[in-house]
Formats: sequence, structure tokens, C-alpha cells
Amino acid sequence: MDSISKSFEQKEEEEQSLQKTNQSFEEFLSTLPRDYGWTPLFDCYLYQGCWYYPFFLRGVIAAQQHFEAQPTDIFICSVPKSGTTWLKAVAFAIVTREKYSDLSSHPLLSTMPHECIPFLEVDVVGKEHTNQTAEVPLLATHIPYHSLPKSIISGGCKIVYIYRDPKDAFVSLWHFTSKLTPKDATHISLEEALELFCKGVSYYGPYWDHVLSFWKARKEAPQRMLFLAYEEMRKDPLPCVKNLADFMGQPFSVEEENEGVPQKIVDLCSFENLSDLDVNKKGKHRPENAAGIENRAFFRKGMIGDWQSHLTPDMAERLDQITREKFGGTDLPSYVSD
Ligand code: A3P
Repeated sequence: MDSISKSFEQKEEEEQSLQKTNQSFEEFLSTLPRDYGWTPLFDCYLYQGCWYYPFFLRGVIAAQQHFEAQPTDIFICSVPKSGTTWLKAVAFAIVTREKYSDLSSHPLLSTMPHECIPFLEVDVVGKEHTNQTAEVPLLATHIPYHSLPKSIISGGCKIVYIYRDPKDAFVSLWHFTSKLTPKDATHISLEEALELFCKGVSYYGPYWDHVLSFWKARKEAPQRMLFLAYEEMRKDPLPCVKNLADFMGQPFSVEEENEGVPQKIVDLCSFENLSDLDVNKKGKHRPENAAGIENRAFFRKGMIGDWQSHLTPDMAERLDQITREKFGGTDLPSYVSD
């Protein structure tokens, strides 16, 4: 067989196998509990106790089946809207600081942080199923701990987890979903979104269970997990950046400290700096697919306590009540007014 007909046959086989996968994925989806995904664009589906949009769920399952973690991989984990974009920028700036010591041409000035670090369930699976050849040993995922691909756990990979006051995460997610929703479609009200969020139905929710899945795992393997609270990092970023560098095995040297490198990274990755860059004001993230969104949607206010401008005392109390029940007995910040 000549090489042209061989590659034609191969292509046909690949297409058939893809169609079969699509069909079996659709069939699989139809067996899962389903609920409203906060936007008319997608419903969400409950898989292993977590709510996913189909686009991401397909990647989660592929990652569970095929992803091969390297022991040197470091994972940035979070529930959406907890500060992932910021943590990605900081982690990337730390591990690449030698290569990009000239901050005036740093990639973060022209590249949206999500594009600097691959997203496991979207960018890695379906391709090499490993991060082995990547420039940096960093990967990001929103998968809860109990559903992570086994090789991440058995490989002893380090995990950095960022979390946030559920009230601010909720308000942030509501704004974000609104930006995903076409202007002429029905936008979910804050009240409807709150109902769903409290039921646990939100993008990679239930929010509280996601945080707890990592918190419980950290108790078993504290040396390979770093927990960062968005609020602590916002109030005093410098010690968090240094702590993160230590944890990732790349502590700042005395010379770097004297040259102010940690502070330069804080400044480079600050909300004020990143949100004002052209790339983050005008660019689009994943323009090619259904979940494509403008970069500026990832930089809204970056405030602690913005929930106070949106939630009534009753709404806040509903969220606090769940936080009390779920986080009570842990050393997580209480986030509730007693
Ligand atoms: P708000 O919507 O409350 O402003 P994620 O990155 O997980 O999607 O989280 C998004 C939230 O982090 C948004 O919160 C966004 O404004 C905030 N954020 C993005 N970049 C940040 C930065 N460099 N510093 C602080 N907060 C940031």
C-alpha cells in the first residue's frame, strides 16, 4: 500500500474511532444526573460527585484514562473563580525567573496566564497524555482531588491549592457566567444562581466539597500539598510568593532577595498590572471553541468581600450556613460572621 492510501485509511479509522467515542460519550452523558448550567449554552452533569460541562467532562474522563503524570509535575488546583489565573501567573513567573530575568519582555506581558500553563482536562489529554516535553513542570486542573488521574496521586506530584470565601467565589462565578452567556439569551438571576450554588450545582461544584476533597488529602500528605487562601495572598502577597517558591523547590537565593526578585514577581502578577495589559483587555481565550471567552472576563475586581455589594444579608447567611456546616471542625478560614 502506498503511503498516501495508507494515511487516507488511517485518517478514516481515526475518524470512525472519534465518532464512536463521541457516540459513546453522548450515551454516557445521558446516564448522568443533569441540571441547568447557569447559562442556556450548556447543561451540567454530575460525575463522581462533581458538576461538569460536557466539554470539560470529556477531558476529565480522558485524563483519568490516559494521563501519565511525571513525579516532577506540579499541579495548580482550584475551583473556578478562586484565584486560579493569579496563581498560574505567579507560579509561572517563579519557575521561569532565570530565563525571563528581563521583566520588560516577560511572556506574562503579552500572554494571558491561562496560556502559560496547560489545563489538564483541555490542553493535555487527546495529545501526548503527559507534560513531559513541556517548558515548565506546571499543569493546572479544576478536577476535585478524589477524581484526579491516579498517576498524579501515585506519582507523589506536588499540588498547590487556592481557595476563597465561597461568597466571593459565588459572586465571581455569577459575573463570569453572565459573560459566557450571549447578550440576547436569558441571563440567570443572582437568586436563581444562588439556589443552584447552594444545591452544589455549579461549574466544578459543590464548591465546599471541592475544597474539602483537597483539605482531607492534605492531612494525609501535607508535604506535597500547599494551601493558599486568596484573601491572605491579596492582603500580603510577598510571603505567599516566597512560600510558594520554597514549596516548588525553587527558593529565592539571598542574591535574589537582595535584588528584590520576589517583590518584582508580586508586582508583575498583581491584579492592577495584569488587568491593565492589552493582552488581558483585548485578547480572547480559546477563541476556537464553545467555551471561548474574552480574557478580561478573568480579571473583574480582584477584591476581598465584593459579595457585600451583591448579596442581601439573607443570601450571605445562606452561604455562611453551608460554610459553617461543611468547614466546621477544619482549620480552613471560617469566612462567616458569627
Ligand atoms: P472577581 O470576580 O471577584 O474579581 P479564577 O482565576 O479562578 O477564574 O478567579 C477569578 C477571580 O480572580 C476574579 O475575581 C478575578 O478578578 C481575580 N483575579 C484575577 N487575576 C488576579 C490577580 N492578578 N490578583 C488578584 N485577583 C485576581
